[in-house]
Formats: sequence, C-alpha cells, structure tokens
Amino acid sequence: AKYYASEPDFVTVGPKKYIFLRPYLEDVENVYHMPLRPSDVFVVTYQRSGTTWTQELVWLLANDLDYETAAKIPITERYPFLELFMFFNKEWQQDLLERYEDKDKALDLIEKIAKPVSERLRLAPSPRFIKSHLPMCLLPPKILDTAKVVYVARDPRDVAVSCYHHSKLFKVLDFPSPFKDFWNLFIRNLFTETPFFEHVKEAWELKDHPNMLFLFYEELIKDLPAAIRRVADFLGKEVTPEQMARLCDHLSFENFKKNDSVNYEELREYGVLSAEEKFMRKGKAGGWRSYFDEEMTEQAEKWIEDNLKDTDLRFPTVN
Ligand code: A3P
Repeated sequence: AKYYASEPDFVTVGPKKYIFLRPYLEDVENVYHMPLRPSDVFVVTYQRSGTTWTQELVWLLANDLDYETAAKIPITERYPFLELFMFFNKEWQQDLLERYEDKDKALDLIEKIAKPVSERLRLAPSPRFIKSHLPMCLLPPKILDTAKVVYVARDPRDVAVSCYHHSKLFKVLDFPSPFKDFWNLFIRNLFTETPFFEHVKEAWELKDHPNMLFLFYEELIKDLPAAIRRVADFLGKEVTPEQMARLCDHLSFENFKKNDSVNYEELREYGVLSAEEKFMRKGKAGGWRSYFDEEMTEQAEKWIEDNLKDTDLRFPTVN
C-alpha cells in the first residue's frame, strides 16, 4: 500500500479532505460512535509529534507512578491505537502469514495490530488510555463532554523529518524518498492524515475546553517539569519534588531510548522493524535545519505563514 494519495489505496474523508488509507473506512463509523466513559484519556496528535513521550507521561501520572507496570506492559498494550489497523491491509496480512513459519504467532500479530480496536475497547476495563492520530472532527463528536484529551503539536518541519525516518523503521511503510519528495507530498496535503494544519488548528480551537490539554513538543523539550505540572494539574494529580525528579529522569531522551516498553520493541520479533533504526530517533527540536536547502526553507516559511494567517496558533521555536 502507498501511504500517500495514490488511488486506489487512499480515501479523503470529511469536508477538510483528510487523507486516509482505505481500510480506515471499515471502522470510521464505529470510532465516531464509540461509547465514551468519563475516565477515558485520549492522547491525540499528528504522527511523530511526541505522542509516545506524552502517552508515557500521562499514563504514569494517572497510575500513581507505577514504573514497574510501565516497564512490564508495552505502551502499545497500555494504549490501544484507534486506527493502527489501517496500515496493515489484507495484502500485508497475507504476506505475513506466508512468510512466517509460526502461524500462530503471525495470527497473534494480526489480531494485535491489524484488527480494528473498537470492539476491544468496548470490553476494556476502565480507565482506558487511547492513542489516536485522527483529527478531532473524526473522533466522537461529544468527546470533550465526557472524556479527557491531551493533544500534542510539533513544528511541522520536524514532524516531516521524523515521519520520513519512521518509514525506515517500519519495513511495511513505503514513503517517498528522498526527503524532498516526501516533503512536497506532505505540504501538498497528500500524505496520510494531512492536511497537517487543519489537524492542529482543530485541536487548537478547543484548547480552552476544561477537558482538553493542548501541549507542544517544544514545550516538553524546553521545560519538562513545567509540562509535567500542566499534565498533572489537568489530571488532578499532585507531584512531589522527588517524584518530579524521578519522572524527568525516566522521560529523558537517553532513558527513553533505552526503554523497550516505549520503543515498540515487542514488534521486533515479528520482523516488522528494521535492524538499523529505533522508534526514538533524535529527540530534538529544530533538527529539520540539516534536511532543508534554502529553497525548501523559504517554501516552508511561506507555507507556515500562510496557514497561520487565520489563527493565533504559533509553534514555540527552540534554539
Ligand atoms: P525524532 O524522530 O525527531 O527523534 P511519536 O511518538 O509521536 O511517534 O513521536 C516520535 C518523536 O518524538 C521522535 O522524534 C522521538 O525521538 C521523539 N521523542 C520521543 N520520546 C522523546 C523524549 N523522551 N525526548 C525527546 N524526544 C522524544
């Protein structure tokens, strides 16, 4: 499958014309109408914006800093990923079954990652922690009346670079290369879950809702304790100075990179990850500069400026 606008693999959904892989249509209604619970916590982002980092932070604060369980149960299991299945279409499933000697294991993986999760969520005990890259308009319409949402946004230039590398980790992904080609699809809103700016702006418009917390990746980079405090307040949790120090240490990039529970390492044995890459890559803000030539830099500035004209949203820059 292609992960960008190439017929017949993709569909556009809703008035904002979000790009999705066709299998998403199988579950779109179930997701939109999924029953919510007041204890639900969603972490919603455009991909590669710091989702996993925020997921771990939210989960630990909500679960009385239970580091032991966090290490034991991979983040993928602690947080069902609403639309993950759309990346693993029937062809991929067939291929896996043919390639994999241990058929039970292959079926187990298909069950885990290639099946819509709305049914699993219905049966899951409370509190549920849910990951999604869907824009707010495709999540249940009254989501903020019931559940909590933490939305994370990141400078789109860093998002694009990180997405580009992501396809080198997940062997199944087939993103355009070199980076410049990928970038041109991304800004023309032809890549999965774009338009990027619509995604972020939808959430930004809801940022003052008491059940919405809007964070920037750059804010976590710049002052992690302050960001932790914002999340703790949002979840109604207290954090002592000792707990804060330990949490910051746990969430530091160096420790995160070594933490198998948040690096999708449990997928490695299935042969879907490439040996050279890890889920945690650079963990920096502003790294895009070494990927952009002068023409792309100017193009990006104009693209960002044009898209921010009608909003007070601004990405905090980190130098
Ligand atoms: P890079 O590829 O730029 O390194 P997501 O979880 O949404 O897929 O986001 C992944 C991005 O967040 C990657 O960006 C990853 O390195 C970064 N990230 C994850 N944990 C981090 C941490 N503890 N500190 C800094 N960056 C982190």
